[in-house]
Amino acid sequence: MRKKIVAANWKMNMTVGESMAFMDTFLHELGADNSVEVVIVPPFTALAKVSEILSVGQQAKLGAQNMHWEKPGAFTGEISAPMLRELYVRYVVLGHSERRTLFGESDEIVNKKTRAAIDAALRPIVCIGETLSERDADKVEEVLDRQIKGSLAGVSARELVDVVIAYEPVWAIGTGRTATPQQAQDAHAFIRAKLAELWDSASAEKVRIQYGGSVKAQNAAELMGQADIDGALVGGASLDPRGFAEIVKAAARG
Ligand code: PGA
Repeated sequence: MRKKIVAANWKMNMTVGESMAFMDTFLHELGADNSVEVVIVPPFTALAKVSEILSVGQQAKLGAQNMHWEKPGAFTGEISAPMLRELYVRYVVLGHSERRTLFGESDEIVNKKTRAAIDAALRPIVCIGETLSERDADKVEEVLDRQIKGSLAGVSARELVDVVIAYEPVWAIGTGRTATPQQAQDAHAFIRAKLAELWDSASAEKVRIQYGGSVKAQNAAELMGQADIDGALVGGASLDPRGFAEIVKAAARG
């Protein structure tokens, strides 16, 4: 049985002060239910404060939005895995479509980061997904196949089970246009079958695949009720502590 994982990707939002206010309300709303794994993914500047807040009670885990693959060194503006580890960061989002399209991250770069994260005992949340024109051209499976092979090259079956994959159709991110539960389930089933083909079916069954793209309290339960949808990567709707707590509760029911 895969434990559902719901992550709040705050993107470039939330000052330290706003993060503190969010956590106060969110942890209160969340209560003691730990049937779902919850990951808060603040901007780098708020990691230390959110880490401190989470050190009491541990109702949620901490994630980072990106990292560099190199060991510490002359890489102005970058953040390394040991820096994240020091703050008790457990997950790191890699290859988000905004990183891929706005900052030129290729599958090869995502692969280097994935490798470095695993080597540093951080769990990667590797994002994949097609654009609207790729979907319209019937290329969803081709794109997912290429991104899985490229981003996860060299990952062993033992390592794969700790990787989280986020299927995020680019046309659904921040647009209010969610994939239908069936569209999402079809893509997730394809991804799992591909993992079984490239690694093995026992490992593929253990990998958690999150859906991302305009997830909100109103659609979360139906999406996460699908057989191969094991959680959500939530952007816009994760900025509201009450709304995000509702999404976590929907995951617990799904
Ligand atoms: P959204 O973003 O929920 O605002 O669509 C999801 C994401 O980019 O992870």
